[in-house]
Amino acid sequence: MFRLTVLLYFLVYVYLGTLTTFGVAGNKEKLVTVKDKFKLPSDDLMPFVGFGTYKVKGDDLIFKLLDYALAAGYRLIDTAQYYENEESIGQALKVLLPKYNLTRKDIFITTKLLSTKLGEADVYQSIEKSVKNLGYDYVDLFLIHFPGLPSRDNTTNPKNDSVLRDETWQVMVRAVKDGLVRNIGVSNYLVHHLKELLENDHGIKPGVNQLEWHPGYHPAGLLELCKQEGILLQAYGSLGGTGRANVLLKRPEVVKIAEKLKKTPAQILLRWALQQKIGIIPKASSEDRIKQNMDLDFIIPEEDMRALLSFEQKHNSWNSGNIQ
Ligand SMILES: NC(=O)c1ccc[n+]([C@@H]2O[C@H](COP(=O)([O-])OP(=O)(O)OC[C@H]3O[C@@H](n4cnc5c(N)ncnc54)[C@H](OP(=O)(O)O)[C@@H]3O)[C@@H](O)[C@H]2O)c1
Repeated sequence: MFRLTVLLYFLVYVYLGTLTTFGVAGNKEKLVTVKDKFKLPSDDLMPFVGFGTYKVKGDDLIFKLLDYALAAGYRLIDTAQYYENEESIGQALKVLLPKYNLTRKDIFITTKLLSTKLGEADVYQSIEKSVKNLGYDYVDLFLIHFPGLPSRDNTTNPKNDSVLRDETWQVMVRAVKDGLVRNIGVSNYLVHHLKELLENDHGIKPGVNQLEWHPGYHPAGLLELCKQEGILLQAYGSLGGTGRANVLLKRPEVVKIAEKLKKTPAQILLRWALQQKIGIIPKASSEDRIKQNMDLDFIIPEEDMRALLSFEQKHNSWNSGNIQ
């Protein structure tokens, strides 16, 4: 029985490794699996699938959900200064990593700069604080959370957002050189923000752009630019976002494909992104959903991939379109 199970696993592994699928651009591509990793400019390998922790707060809840997530195979944890859960995550990992025979290097932690800190004099200290909160010597990835100050009045920084972004990036480059942070990237950057960052060229390219991305919102040109520049586009809000997921999950087009492929609507939305080599960081609150969101090694046929690309476009989360 044991041998048979091992053989079965081996055959599935070989099968997945040889499968190819057609990307939305029509190119023949190797199937991306949940175990695959993206090579960052530093040569670090970053899992394509991670666990989101927005609105997950409190030591006990964090511990419970990270326990489920590590058991289900997640090795990337996405947090942010804004989520106020870095310390809880750090404490939980100290107990949970040994439980799963893992060490710090087996997991990948992303955190992000509080948006109101953009361009502030204490950005470096703020990175140090995140590292300290998380309880290890470094974070794997540090992101600029938003390309501009979220709101402006007479008391806010008189410099424009473009200058604030550039100054912040230079501090983040210093944090990489000092070993505080292994990789740096951005979030909510549109094409013009990303092009500006690449043109400014401070010696380290962004490894990741984390962005709201799902069939109902996938701004033109960004995925192509990211792929061309070797940047991972990592989707957030793949299920429609915390508090709003039901709208996307109930779309008849999504439900129809889910029924056809005998998967859940959530799996269709997540696989849709992964199949385009887009990273995903779904957040879920039950063991069953956490497992389900990792069970994505199937193929969505090309016609269904295309059908999911044709929704009317509207973002649910932050709007960076008006940030110059
Ligand atoms: N960079 C940014 O500006 C930014 C912005 C937003 C989010 N993020 C990051 O991205 C992560 C993901 O985004 P998100 O949390 O906003 O939204 P999301 O992952 O799109 O959706 C989460 C919602 O979907 C529900 N859900 C999860 N799995 C499900 C399943 N299998 N079936 C049905 N419903 C399911 C969850 O409910 P339950 O929790 O009740 O299970 C929750 O309400 C965040 O946690 C955060 O780490 C980044």
